[in-house]
Amino acid sequence: MKNKGALIEAKMKTHNPILKRVREAIYRSEDAGITETKLSTIIGVSENDIAWRLGKLLYKGLIEIETIDGEKVIRKKGLPKNKEPNKQANGIRHISTSYENYKVNKLEKYIGSKQVIKDAEMVLKIGENLMLTGDRGIGKSLLTASIAKNWNIPRYTFNCSHGVTESDLVGYYVDFNTFVDGMITQAVKTACGGQDAMLVIEEINAINPGIAMMLHSLLDFQHQLEIKPTGEVLKLNGAGKLYVVATANVGYEGLFTLNRALHSRFIEKNIPFPNDNILKEILRVNGIKKEEEQHIVIGLVKAMKASYEKGELQDYPTIREMVQYAKIRQHRTIKETVYMVFFDKFVKSKVAEDVVKNIMKSLVP
Ligand SMILES: Nc1ncnc2c1ncn2[C@@H]1O[C@H](COP(=O)(O)OP(=O)(O)OP(=O)(O)O)[C@@H](O)[C@H]1O
Ligand SMILES: [Mg+2]
Repeated sequence: MKNKGALIEAKMKTHNPILKRVREAIYRSEDAGITETKLSTIIGVSENDIAWRLGKLLYKGLIEIETIDGEKVIRKKGLPKNKEPNKQANGIRHISTSYENYKVNKLEKYIGSKQVIKDAEMVLKIGENLMLTGDRGIGKSLLTASIAKNWNIPRYTFNCSHGVTESDLVGYYVDFNTFVDGMITQAVKTACGGQDAMLVIEEINAINPGIAMMLHSLLDFQHQLEIKPTGEVLKLNGAGKLYVVATANVGYEGLFTLNRALHSRFIEKNIPFPNDNILKEILRVNGIKKEEEQHIVIGLVKAMKASYEKGELQDYPTIREMVQYAKIRQHRTIKETVYMVFFDKFVKSKVAEDVVKNIMKSLVP
């Protein structure tokens, strides 16, 4: 027979998402417990509503409540020890941030081919790790944030090219028995606690060997993370899903150097340079409504990209610069904006100057 805790859990999963979130927040707070006020802030419902839900959990024997300094403090109770999501060895206190802090709230709209979005989502839904490759500023990071927002899940992200260290990702001690959970540890714990989450590994091609090693066992069938400093091993228990997305900046030159063992753990989806309709839509939603002007900007971007591919320019604009254009254009004329966004940034030699001036002459009135 299934135990009572498992039955309650199954029932709450299907019928009462708020109650489930209340219980998770309590469990994540571990031994220290959580105050009623904090709980109602995290969940976003009134204290009255929280009190009513706590009553249900109390009745089921899942929590206990103690009054400390006039405040109700709620702690977990009742589940067998090995079911606790943040089980800790050797008495170490873990500090983790609430996953609510990692939810994506406001976000600009991702505009892209439906196929790209569908493929990316499908890879994640079937439980595989996704690697988004594509040019700089083409929307890789935005797509990950957009999926996390649509699925209403927290998104834990770190960038491999910013000198990130193992302790940033796994965690570090702040004193002899207090351990601050790093980004990956938090993501794994969130999933273990029953909340689906996304882990985004930005610019994975710049990953250092130590971090790559650490990720191997998390990304394959073992689904486990070793927290070396505390000697703990966290294993994804299926309570919540952990969707893993990596991004890799692969420019026109196709430079891509990633350890093969790590690469093989991903399904790769390339985001191609978008077609004109998508580019027009991006300009339109960013405030460039006139067709003639859209034509100028798209023409400039494509001509500069072509010049780069012929070796005439050292760098070229992508969607990121198109959005920058749209923003500056609210304050400057077409010509001034073109100079700021496409000339000052990309012209670094006499040859480049001639090339870009020629392109501008044929397009900008
Ligand atoms: N498909 C898109 N739809 C809407 N805006 C986009 C799109 N692609 C890029 N942008 C704009 O360009 C900016 C840069 O996009 P993003 O940071 O996602 O690019 P990236 O591919 O991750 O680049 P990098 O490789 O440099 O990290 C976004 O903030 C957004 O303003
Ligand atoms: Mg990015």
